[in-house]
Amino acid sequence: MKQAATAQQSVPAGAGRAPRHVAIIMDGNGRWAKKRLLPRAAGHRQGVEAARRIVRAAGELGLEVLTLYAFSSENWRRPATEISDLMGLLRRFIVNDIDELAEAGVRLRIIGDYHALEPDVVAMIDSAMARTAGNSKTTLVIALNYGAQQELVRAVRSLAADALAGKIDPLAIDTGDIDARLDTCDLPPLDLLIRTSGEKRLSNFLLWQAAYAELLFVDTLWPDFDRDALAEAIAHFGQRERRFGGL
Ligand code: IPE
Ligand code: IPE
Ligand code: MG
Repeated sequence: MKQAATAQQSVPAGAGRAPRHVAIIMDGNGRWAKKRLLPRAAGHRQGVEAARRIVRAAGELGLEVLTLYAFSSENWRRPATEISDLMGLLRRFIVNDIDELAEAGVRLRIIGDYHALEPDVVAMIDSAMARTAGNSKTTLVIALNYGAQQELVRAVRSLAADALAGKIDPLAIDTGDIDARLDTCDLPPLDLLIRTSGEKRLSNFLLWQAAYAELLFVDTLWPDFDRDALAEAIAHFGQRERRFGGL
């Protein structure tokens, strides 16, 4: 029953309906740089510029929630220098952009196990989240050290612990109980999931939440993604017929 309720809260089908919650797998920074014979770090720098543009555009286009996949739990497999470049960009993004975000009414949220990042990054994130907690115009969710399978493991462990402690009946566990223990528990259902750069896979992103999301794969490399591209994606969404299993 709870799953049915979730589906009803999602944006229904129909002409020009606007998504409430859009998530983006920001992919293609490395290829953007390679095409220009630049180091990968230059692609990531431009990727941050694109993220900045898209956060602004999301506010202007009236999105309630924008979720950006910035660093996956599998991205630790990259060379240490690239990881360090990415963490440096994250630090700079928080330092440089927090004022503008706070003033624009953006609430910052993180999904993923961000506590595993460097202590100074964790502290910066915690302070940015506390500072913007009262904002309600747009929620910017950044997925950091995020993996959907790991998120589900955390949810299952928490359910198992409660079952062991006699707090819940294992046979009564339903989809709503799992929803409630995911990092996204307080966010509206995912309506539209976009991946840039032509890759057609989810790479461990929002596997549970994407159950009824509309999927859009675009060839644009992330550093080239702009407001028009986001507006076009939203327009595509408005033309999709969502059925949630019904007729
Ligand atoms: C996405 O761009 C950014 C992160 C994963 C952090 P990539 O770095 O994956 O770029 P490509 O896929 O190599 O082009
Ligand atoms: C997914 O992109 C992760 C992020 C965009 C942060 P990847 O580039 O890491 O994904 P794969 O390795 O191509 O699946
Ligand atoms: Mg990639």
